[in-house]
Amino acid sequence: METLIPIINRLQEVFLTVGSEIIQLPQIVVVGSQSSGKSSVLESLVGRDFLPRGSGIVTRRPLVLQLVTVPPLEERRKQDNGNGAKHNSQNSFPGIKAEEWGTFLHCKNQVIKELEFLCSRSTSYSLTSSCEPINLKIYSPNVLSLTLVDLPGITKVPVGDQPEDIETQVREMILSYISNPNSLILCVSPANSDLATSDALKLAREVDADGRRTLLVVSKLDLMDAGTDALEVLLGRIIPVRLGIIGVVNRSQHDLNTQKSLADSCKDEQVFLQRHYPSLASRCGSRYLARTLSRLLMHHIRDCLPELKTRVTVLTAQYQSRLNSCGQPVEDQSATLLQIVTKFAADYCNTIEGTARHIQTSELCGGARICY
Ligand code: GDP
Ligand code: NA
Ligand code: MG
Repeated sequence: METLIPIINRLQEVFLTVGSEIIQLPQIVVVGSQSSGKSSVLESLVGRDFLPRGSGIVTRRPLVLQLVTVPPLEERRKQDNGNGAKHNSQNSFPGIKAEEWGTFLHCKNQVIKELEFLCSRSTSYSLTSSCEPINLKIYSPNVLSLTLVDLPGITKVPVGDQPEDIETQVREMILSYISNPNSLILCVSPANSDLATSDALKLAREVDADGRRTLLVVSKLDLMDAGTDALEVLLGRIIPVRLGIIGVVNRSQHDLNTQKSLADSCKDEQVFLQRHYPSLASRCGSRYLARTLSRLLMHHIRDCLPELKTRVTVLTAQYQSRLNSCGQPVEDQSATLLQIVTKFAADYCNTIEGTARHIQTSELCGGARICY
């Protein structure tokens, strides 16, 4: 089961590289209103400070994060024999140690600039007409293998240079990600606002009426009014959510300002949960959320695999007949699914000028590895 996720990640990369949307692959998409804590939730899943987040900071473009578990650096050095990870001091992020490294699928420098740009933006933003996603890949021994999408927050009223129809634009962008039947929808709703009015849950319902791929994260448990708690919400008595409801406490703005570490935040979260929700503490918190997501993703991939295989086989056959019509024999009798797709992608790329060489040199997931 564990080996499925890297395969799916590599499949996704193949199709990202060839710019094809013929196969929809599983991923986790984070949805919520502005400042509900989406980026904070993602950061706690990754275990690293690198996302643009904060009370005045908004995510302007979809951010597609591929997390890939790798062995610790020492083991990798042995395996790589010195020719694996290439250090590149130009492309380093603050807060990510040399132990971890990432590969950007598209235009490394552009992505770093974009992320820096996102990080430095304050309240206002305007959407690019294309809403092109930013793809970021993170290899680390400290993450579970997951693909996550951080989306701009649901917004009601345009501020600053935002276009009049900002609500519709963002709504449509979110719907385009969550309507993918292979997306797990992670709704983030703050505990200090009414769950019944959760825009995230409403949007999720539109595309997942029976809730088979929607999970609710209740953030900001620490910010509830004195004398109130989220017990009824967390138990699903207010709004039931089939895949589960998980309460979390992330870092407050003050914690961010005083540079509280994620590790300390995680410890304090556990203490908070033990004190305020002793009966639910083992089924709440960031770590439990990460485990739950990993399990859901694996089930999801397992469920999707038969159809995925069929579609790959059909596409392979189609392409093969195209190849055959060119008089070129194909010898893939004993090929694995991945090899077939790799071959298909490489062949497909030949028809798109200039990209085939890129695939071969990057061997699908090597690419230009950057050490942090
Ligand atoms: P996003 O806009 O949905 O991505 O939300 P962010 O993750 O950027 O968080 C918005 C603000 O809420 C930031 O100032 C965070 O520090 C704060 N925040 C997020 N989660 C929590 C939480 O669980 N408790 C508290 N006290 N603050 C939080
Ligand atoms: Na924010
Ligand atoms: Mg955000």
